[in-house]
Amino acid sequence: MEFKQNIRGNVALGINPLGCKQEVLNQIDYVKGKGTYEGPKKVLIIGASSSYGLATRISLAFGTGADTIGVSFEKGPKNEKNLGTAGWYNNIAFREAAEKEGLIAKNFVQDAFSHESKQEVIDYIKNEFGGKVDLVVYSLASGRRTDPTTGETYTSSIKAIGEPVVGPNINMQNQSYYTETLDPATDQEIASTVKVMGGEDWELWMKALKEADVLTDGVLTTNYSYLGTELNHDYYGGGTLGLAKADCDEKTNNINELLADINGKAQIVVATAVTTKASSVIPFFPVYCIGLYKVMADKGTHETPIMHQDRIYREMIYGNKPEYDEVGRLRPDNWELDSDTQAKTKELILKLNEENFNSNLTAYDIFYKEFSNLSGFMVDGYVEQDVTIEELKALHY
Ligand code: NAI
Repeated sequence: MEFKQNIRGNVALGINPLGCKQEVLNQIDYVKGKGTYEGPKKVLIIGASSSYGLATRISLAFGTGADTIGVSFEKGPKNEKNLGTAGWYNNIAFREAAEKEGLIAKNFVQDAFSHESKQEVIDYIKNEFGGKVDLVVYSLASGRRTDPTTGETYTSSIKAIGEPVVGPNINMQNQSYYTETLDPATDQEIASTVKVMGGEDWELWMKALKEADVLTDGVLTTNYSYLGTELNHDYYGGGTLGLAKADCDEKTNNINELLADINGKAQIVVATAVTTKASSVIPFFPVYCIGLYKVMADKGTHETPIMHQDRIYREMIYGNKPEYDEVGRLRPDNWELDSDTQAKTKELILKLNEENFNSNLTAYDIFYKEFSNLSGFMVDGYVEQDVTIEELKALHY
């Protein structure tokens, strides 16, 4: 079967399942190359099938020898034209590799927002996972959420607040650079975005896990945030997503209260900008990335999700180099926020136009490769192999 890369706008439609597998193996090799570290042993990752959640899972399994439960929302193959989603194959590749090392790697592919999902995971922890987890990672990114109590579905909007934002964006489908206008969100859109991408579901998970008594004494729960800089403030930090992230900050306090009697802790981790399915469709953000990555690659500080998450857990959370801000958030994004990096990024972005945005002045090549890697294309070490749709359908997550 031939796998074709197919991009619409900045959304990948085509996937290469075998390339996805190779990409997971490459990330495992990266972690193994760094050796082992002391960390948690029983981990639940909500949003485990791609980018930050997957990278976290790989670092913890292959770095600390953790058994993991991953929850994600992915689709399997139907026919040669519809091969399902990359995350489906990432889950399979991860489980196979982890099981080879004797680790438990349980995948739940279902809507993490529902009460039923939470109950199923809790039952599994109680009955088959040793009874308790010592780390809960919340790494969900979604455009929609159905409130499990009211049944109402909310859609998130990536929009500005107050004034429209006008700026450059890129389109990877036709390799163009164009001006985009981002409208301000309505009050309803703001509220819905907070409902989807804010901290409510994280808190619901922690409440359910605590009530079921499946958290260890000293349990940690992490949630990935992004604050960004003045270069993306108008459409990120100062936009609807920024408010959703602020809601996560607020929920941290509630979760810390909830976990106080078992010495638990809720930790916001302000992560760096990386190329993911979610970030590629944030308006203007790819332009920021192709400037930022160029500067950071030149300085030797550019990171992919696996590099970033491995550093976060190995060196910061379970190591001796954590850096917190004044409100207690962990700040691995300090390499991105470095003042010289930001000044150079700004200078570079201001020079960009239709002619040069994909030249070697920028890191368009890095961004495009990382984007392609997400769906199993341009993967280092990939060797073309033959596979049938029946063989793909026979794979189990
Ligand atoms: P992603 O799109 O690569 O992964 C999202 C994960 O959520 C996938 O595993 C997906 O299956 C899962 N998911 C989505 N809806 C679900 C549902 N209803 N039920 C179960 N699973 C579901 O996203 P990415 O970029 O890794 O984002 C993860 C977190 O990291 C988000 O909170 C994001 O805001 C944050 N972050 C991302 C940054 C970036 O530059 N990409 C920077 C800093 C933070």
